[in-house]
Amino acid sequence: MSNFLLITGASQLLTLRGRAPRRGSALADLGIIRNGALLVRDGKIAAVGARAKIEALPEATAAEKMNLGGRVVLPGFVDSHTHLIHAASRAEEYEMKIAGASYEDIARKGGGILNSVKKLRAATSDALKQRAHRALRQFAAYGTTTIEAKSGYGLDLSSELKILRMHKELAAEQSLDIVSTFLGAHLVPPEYRRALSGTKGYIELLTEQLIPEVAQEKLAEFCDVFCDRGAFTLAQSNQVLEAGKRHGLAPRVHAEQLKHTGATKLGVKLGAASCDHLEQVNSRDIAALAKSQTVATLLPGCDFHLGLKQYAPARKLIDAGTIVALATDYNPGTSPTVSMPLILSLACSQLRMTPAEAITAATINAAYALRRDDRIGSLGVGKFADLAVFDVADYREIPYYFGVNTCWMTIKRGVTVYAADKATI
Ligand code: NIG
Ligand code: FE
Repeated sequence: MSNFLLITGASQLLTLRGRAPRRGSALADLGIIRNGALLVRDGKIAAVGARAKIEALPEATAAEKMNLGGRVVLPGFVDSHTHLIHAASRAEEYEMKIAGASYEDIARKGGGILNSVKKLRAATSDALKQRAHRALRQFAAYGTTTIEAKSGYGLDLSSELKILRMHKELAAEQSLDIVSTFLGAHLVPPEYRRALSGTKGYIELLTEQLIPEVAQEKLAEFCDVFCDRGAFTLAQSNQVLEAGKRHGLAPRVHAEQLKHTGATKLGVKLGAASCDHLEQVNSRDIAALAKSQTVATLLPGCDFHLGLKQYAPARKLIDAGTIVALATDYNPGTSPTVSMPLILSLACSQLRMTPAEAITAATINAAYALRRDDRIGSLGVGKFADLAVFDVADYREIPYYFGVNTCWMTIKRGVTVYAADKATI
């Protein structure tokens, strides 16, 4: 027998229905229904519309009822860029940054990504998993229902495979969806820096052993590369992403974060699902993105945490017609946050996006970046009942209250996974 749930009492129901992905002025279209209701059947949306209409449906009578008391409902956030699995914070580097050391100064002193690699290799699987579970509960508490998760703090065969297998285990052990990305090309690990084969040898390990194994075991859908000063060059990035493609892993790229490298053009050429960061993009990159299906994923949490003044040119990207998404980039080095509402606040105040544009970028466009806009990121018939309920009367108050968690309830496939009233965290 089917299991019906009738949800009423949404002062604003942000459906995000219609054409996906959204570009240009369409980013402001939230498809709002005032005094809206949803009928959920077996975890999927069976009907959506004005309350009177949905309540009148024959299935509504016997359905379980949930009244949201005039709050705002939107699709659960899709956080399309995270580095979920890591062993510990890098609070010691935070102090160095405040004192004036740059991200790259710290990396040169053996800190940065390699600090996290050392910590991860020394950690037990249990400890890594416990930390990830805690983060996943926190993601849910801020209204996120799907995350992408990258490997990249293992950087050897066994540790990278361990992280990717953990993505799968975590997906089975809790409610949020986890979309797995292989980021073996995050940095060259220390043992290869000392070896004669150097970077070339490490790229061989990635392209000839790790990528085939990851694909064979179906441990990831995407292959990512950190193409930047101090990480991988354009040619090396191309090699890794091409190898990923040959094995069925769709490309995505960390592009133009610290320095302009041409990674955006490479991403577009390879048909990447997304190019992420983009603080240093130029007008030619923007034009190339605008003509493509590659999503421009902006990560303002990094610039905020690192105290950098140059945010990605969101207005130019939107006005040129690129598909813009927003994500946390949850990681211990540049963006230790799980809060999509805080990212929306930064997008509004620093990137000059409107609240409506920011919400679109964090839902339907982010779902498109993960190639899942047919299932998540909007509230239409047949989509998953993945919902975030905010204790506000107007959606603009979600970014307006910065650093305050107004998320009141999170629902994943029709099941409540977070309720502020019952929260113990
Ligand atoms: O997305 N830029 C590369 N990767 C991460 C940072 C990783 C780290 O510092 O640990 C990022 O910003
Ligand atoms: Fe990242």
